[in-house]
Amino acid sequence: MPRCVLALDQGTTSSRAIVFDRRGRARGSAQQEFPQHFPSPGWVEHDPRDLWTSTRRTALAALAEANLTARDIAAIGLTNQRETTLLWDRRTGRPLHRALVWQDRRTAAACAKLKRAGLEPLFRRKTGLLLDPYFSGTKLAWLLDHVPGARRRAERGELAFGTVDTWLLWQLTGGRVHATDVSNASRTLLLNLRTAAWDPELLRLLRIPPEVLPEVRDSSGFFGEVSTVPALRGVPITGIAGDQQAALFGQACWQPGMAKNTYGTGCFLLLHTGSKPVASKNNLLTTIAWRIGGQTEYALEGSVFIGGAVVQWLRDGLGLIAQSADIERLAATVPDNGGVYLVPAFAGLGAPHWDAGARGLITGLTRGSTAGHLARAAVESIAYQSADLLGAMQADCGHPLRELRVDGGATVNPALMQFQSDLLRVPVIRPRTIETTALGAAYLAGLATGFWKNRAEIARLWTAGRTFRPQAPARQVRRLQAQWQAAIVRARA
Ligand code: G3P
Repeated sequence: MPRCVLALDQGTTSSRAIVFDRRGRARGSAQQEFPQHFPSPGWVEHDPRDLWTSTRRTALAALAEANLTARDIAAIGLTNQRETTLLWDRRTGRPLHRALVWQDRRTAAACAKLKRAGLEPLFRRKTGLLLDPYFSGTKLAWLLDHVPGARRRAERGELAFGTVDTWLLWQLTGGRVHATDVSNASRTLLLNLRTAAWDPELLRLLRIPPEVLPEVRDSSGFFGEVSTVPALRGVPITGIAGDQQAALFGQACWQPGMAKNTYGTGCFLLLHTGSKPVASKNNLLTTIAWRIGGQTEYALEGSVFIGGAVVQWLRDGLGLIAQSADIERLAATVPDNGGVYLVPAFAGLGAPHWDAGARGLITGLTRGSTAGHLARAAVESIAYQSADLLGAMQADCGHPLRELRVDGGATVNPALMQFQSDLLRVPVIRPRTIETTALGAAYLAGLATGFWKNRAEIARLWTAGRTFRPQAPARQVRRLQAQWQAAIVRARA
């Protein structure tokens, strides 16, 4: 009787694998970083072979740590950095180019051109997304146009396109399966949100030959069996979701109005909106959360580009701290921010502002300002930006949030979590397991095989670790937020 489910989480800077038991506890895990390539300013690439080899290696290491073999593994769940775009030869499996990572801005001019042609409302309505280089569609068009012969070969059906899930599924199954799940497909600019199928009009506008596209499937269900990794041979892959959607699932946010925020390099806030897509009036994205048993569920999404990365900047850019963990101690040397605000718009501002020209800014410096104030302002900027997203979400969906579930590395910082709760005026809940991305992928996979019977059984596994409740007086918070908003206005282009 298999005792565990293996989750593979292929992220932007590292690949991770975690083996979970029936109670959702991690029994073994492994993580491996891989090189980032920056061939030109604004360009970010990954070697597709690195994505695969690091995934395979971490899977084996996690299995070894848990002291398990393939027979103990009921299923594999896959989750991944989203939007990153790959193109490979169907016959040899060889990539035609390095993967264009979601952060890559090389298609900014192509997006601007589509906007000038007045096409953004159409893309928004059909895909829930914006015309931004972030998404896969224009990246795929770039590959087809810039790799010699690619477009012609694609039209002949010789090439396969995929996001990272599709690439890994292809590798795991020895090229037998070319498929993706709806949550990943909904980040491509090519999928119709309502039908959850590739949209012929969008394909035509972006000049994408349908022959390259993977089949779109439910997020929980049979995708294929491992055939290329002897230690995992025959294990079925039965769950796939983009990492932010997987985290929403792992947080058991299944009712409309439930939300989670993941605090990583950036922050990704997703709010479950039920079985119908909600169009945003506040510049958020509408996205597919997952599809299970043919039923599609939707979410609103907002992202903060620079979340935990602001701490790295304090470390590497300013040399104010030696390691990221030191930020907590430095911020605690002052009782408050002393009027200092840091807007980390290093890469422009994401939702709800979408201002690519905005730049970072520090306001309120006085002769008495210290490194402690700067550290505090940096930490607080993560919470302010997340609060701005949540404000936009509540305006879009029309009902107030009851609580926010949180995960990701920075949630270990209690001062940040407390401040987040003070700003939002609702409880901020950190679950006992903060590995919710991998856990969500494991749940999707385990649900499909009956390893977990139903969502109710999984919901019982979700347990709060620590809850942060609003403490600061509301009047004081309103005053702070007004000053933050003033700083944002000054940072905008
Ligand atoms: O949309 C991009 C997101 O999926 C990346 O997540 O955790 O790999 O930075 P992460």
